[in-house]
Amino acid sequence: MSVAARAAGLTTSPIRSIARGAPQGTISLALGEPGWPVPDAATQALVHWADLAMTCSYGPNEGLPELVEALTERYAVRPDQLMVTAGSQAALFALFQAHVPAGSRVLVPDPGFPAYRTLATLAGAESTAYPLGPGGALHAGAVLDLLEQHHDVSVVVLNHPANPTGGCATAPELERVARACERRDVTLISDEVYRELRVDGTPQPSVREVSDRAIVVQSVSKAWAAPGLRVGWAGGPAELLAPARLVHNAMTTAPARPSQVAAAALLGDSATVLAGSRKELRRRWELVAAGPEVLRPTQPVTAGFYHWLPLPPWTRADPEGFVRRVRDEGRVLVVPGAAFGPAGRDHVRLSVGGPRAELLEGLARLAPWWEEPC
Ligand SMILES: Cc1ncc(COP(=O)(O)O)c(C=O)c1O
Repeated sequence: MSVAARAAGLTTSPIRSIARGAPQGTISLALGEPGWPVPDAATQALVHWADLAMTCSYGPNEGLPELVEALTERYAVRPDQLMVTAGSQAALFALFQAHVPAGSRVLVPDPGFPAYRTLATLAGAESTAYPLGPGGALHAGAVLDLLEQHHDVSVVVLNHPANPTGGCATAPELERVARACERRDVTLISDEVYRELRVDGTPQPSVREVSDRAIVVQSVSKAWAAPGLRVGWAGGPAELLAPARLVHNAMTTAPARPSQVAAAALLGDSATVLAGSRKELRRRWELVAAGPEVLRPTQPVTAGFYHWLPLPPWTRADPEGFVRRVRDEGRVLVVPGAAFGPAGRDHVRLSVGGPRAELLEGLARLAPWWEEPC
């Protein structure tokens, strides 16, 4: 059997591999997905579709008209400035395949969502990490320095509110990166899947507010509470999306038709759905704030459902061993920070998005591990 070199080095997502071998009864605070019920708009649309459907045909490559319409209205773009995909993950894959030449370089955040590095490898490129500012905020200067140093950068990836830190980006910082990318003809991709999950009402700027050359990726997976639908999209210049759309067609033809029907219903009911998600999220962060003192965030949380928790100093010699002991003896699962890049080594990521009872129990189990050993 021969495995192509680009796939040979791939490993299971570290977020999923830590879950393997967890003892029975382990509480998972590891997976980044909403634990509140899928909104009514989606379930009703699915039931209605199932009642009426005589056939289950392929969706059109460009997305179902009602979904495209909901998105073009929401983002005030033309249909050719939009690409409907099987989750934002497929949007990212298609964009990397279309805009990352083999041998080029992709700038990715450290700590950051591990898929960016994998997608660069699959495109035959190298990824170079840029550091984030305090609290995981975008520090444009760090990206600009790397753009000065490397003349082979094809794509810069931003992700704010960020996975795993929750850090945000201000409009001026986004603008500095966007202008630098425009000057060098580098494609800027901003992953904004957590943008609508504001906790405290602070608006999170989108890169599209400061640049009409940048591409944004989004999905119904987080804020619209429906990751299993696998529906996402990219918005950006038509000429940048056109080749990516062909890659997406070659990969998956189109997202599943019933999923697109449900996604259109969710988008159409955005005001209710997003308000509901923010409420669910605020309740969870309130539980964390009222929970064990050793586990409380030291900075105010503004967006998303990740708690980027520093490891206790006495565990730092072997963080992964510590996380495994917490899993096997404490029966609670968190993700070792190193899964998100070397800069994450001294942290773990807790997702607070799951069911509230599990969050409470998970925090109670975790707390003793963060308390100073006698
Ligand atoms: C930052 C980030 N981008 C993209 C994704 C992929 O999400 P989806 O493909 O469900 O839209 C995730 C999922 O965890 C994520 O955290």
